[in-house]
Amino acid sequence: MAIKDIQQEILKLKKENDICILAHCYQSPEILEVADYTGDSFGLAVEAAKVENKTVIMCGVRFMAETVKILSPDKTVILSNADAGCPMAEMMDKDVISEVKKQYPDYTVVAYVNTTSELKTVCDVCVTSSSALKICRKLESDKILFIPDRNLGSWIAEQLPEKEFKLLSGGCPTHAKIGKEAVLAAKAKHPDALFLVHPECVSEVVELADYVGSTTGIMDYARKSDAKEFIIGTENSIVTHLQLECPDKKFYPLSKNLICNNMKATTLVDVLNCCKGCGGEVIELDEETRLGAKRCIDKMIELG
Ligand code: 13P
Ligand code: SF4
Repeated sequence: MAIKDIQQEILKLKKENDICILAHCYQSPEILEVADYTGDSFGLAVEAAKVENKTVIMCGVRFMAETVKILSPDKTVILSNADAGCPMAEMMDKDVISEVKKQYPDYTVVAYVNTTSELKTVCDVCVTSSSALKICRKLESDKILFIPDRNLGSWIAEQLPEKEFKLLSGGCPTHAKIGKEAVLAAKAKHPDALFLVHPECVSEVVELADYVGSTTGIMDYARKSDAKEFIIGTENSIVTHLQLECPDKKFYPLSKNLICNNMKATTLVDVLNCCKGCGGEVIELDEETRLGAKRCIDKMIELG
């Protein structure tokens, strides 16, 4: 079957079966084209709270599908590919963080949304890369235990010197593996390009950026900028999407290794199979976990 025929079939089944497709921006162009909503982690969570369809297919990774289920327990929520996890989300568990909390009893626990639902139950509020600064600033507490992404946490901490941050040593293996040498090499190759970076990258990389922001932050910046060339310091799918959207500008990947295999796990055929009811994984959460995690997600949406 050709790509456009599969897409036609998905669009038909979506209508017939009252399905909404949500897709993170790191998905491939052919998936984004059939989605009802595309965006970064925060945008997807906000959209998840508004969806009215009977079934939601999340093209992204597991914690994103869990967020939809947390907000919409009566819907059938399908993770597009059962193997699409997020290594950062699985890095820390509830028991470890419960122990750490005992050392910092007066700290507010801020969890990046890239965490399991179970871990969220022992946290105070979730954030995403696009909402973290705003939410941490708004929090009454001036003592923040930020988990699990050390890089995002230290970038936020730098901008809020009036608050005290405790960071743990988690992070995104895709973004964190890129070092300063890659930036220097890319800048030497493309001296006129602006460097746009995701705060999941290490601080020595972030320090060299012209702009730091979430996935959609980077995309908006590049769309609106008068500059003509950009080095993109986030998952390489964003290079492809921006190049398709802005053909008069040039986009270069910071590194050809900036690829998240989990985000790449979903194929268009996976989405088709989910629409047929024979693919992906239906997300189930016990009510106690769901409600415990919902507290943090609701607070994120309220403050973000
Ligand atoms: P954002 O969607 O918040 O930019 O985060 C990027 C990411 O790594 C998602 O898993
Ligand atoms: Fe997780 Fe990083 Fe992949 Fe995002 S890019 S899903 S944080 S591993």
